[in-house]
Amino acid sequence: MEIKKVGVVGCGLMGSGIAQVCAQAGYLTIVSEINDAFLNKGLGSIKSSLEKAVAKGKVGEGDRDAILGRLKGTTNMGDLKDCDFVIEAAFEDIELKKKVFASLDDICHKHAILSTNTSSMSVIHMAAATKRMQQVVGTHFFNPVPVMKLVEVVRTVASSDESIDIAKKFCESLGKAVILAKDTPGFIANRIWIPFALDAMRLYESGVASKEDIDNGMKLGYNHPMGPLELSDLIGLDTLVDAANSMYEEFKEPRFAPPTVLKKMVIAGYLGRKTGKGFYDYK
Ligand code: 3HC
Repeated sequence: MEIKKVGVVGCGLMGSGIAQVCAQAGYLTIVSEINDAFLNKGLGSIKSSLEKAVAKGKVGEGDRDAILGRLKGTTNMGDLKDCDFVIEAAFEDIELKKKVFASLDDICHKHAILSTNTSSMSVIHMAAATKRMQQVVGTHFFNPVPVMKLVEVVRTVASSDESIDIAKKFCESLGKAVILAKDTPGFIANRIWIPFALDAMRLYESGVASKEDIDNGMKLGYNHPMGPLELSDLIGLDTLVDAANSMYEEFKEPRFAPPTVLKKMVIAGYLGRKTGKGFYDYK
């Protein structure tokens, strides 16, 4: 199957990055949001990311215009009807995602592959909301999407070999390296990293060390580009609570349970960089 047009549902942190790399790779890309304010914010962040790339000489002005010419935004998900490959990047809310998949199943051509960017939810729940379970897969990107090389392609019990192959080749065509995982919460990367980040938070809340020293321990001692607490702020603390909860629900192991400090910060609205405050202050 030749992929010409790509749809992205959601133009937040991940959806905007995914839409950008699709348009940059030469695909006609249409990204949908629930309202104009969210859409304009997401499209604005794509434009500013491209402007930075132009300023650094990584993208030419003509290329920038061509990329933006391939990219369209909409608040009507029905406009995704001609897409060959659709990536859902909505909030990590399983009921919302099931609704999105049921709608996409009605809207899209029979041949279209539907994928989810969920970081920790069971892909089969979304597949089961459609009448094309064999054509539903996971494509889990990493933040910031234009920079991070990895995509996890996730196979459910119902995904066909052909759909996995198409998803893998599609992600590679975006310049990404693909690793394959079965449909278990957290897949490969988050299954390892989330308990590690939660342990860093437990260390912080028990007063063993300052947040700076915890982060420096991993940056300077292990060469991580960011420490676990500053990376948590980048990912979004609400996203982390959701991911931890869905992993804890599945595995019932205490190491996946979100620590109190994390839950309280989320209740307070301290969600990390996106709200200007998380473990660190960004104002
Ligand atoms: N969009 C496009 N390019 C970006 C960018 C963005 N949002 N953020 C940074 N970059 C580019 C910069 O332009 C720069 O490019 P250059 O080298 O060509 O000049 C390069 O990335 C490095 O950026 P900076 O010099 O500004 O800063 P750093 O060297 O500190 O790098 C970083 C920033 C790339 C974010 C780096 O700190 C890093 O790799 N951090 C770890 C990120 C990570 O682990 N992400 C995974 C999160 S987990 C996840 O997403 C899964 C989810 O399910 C939870």
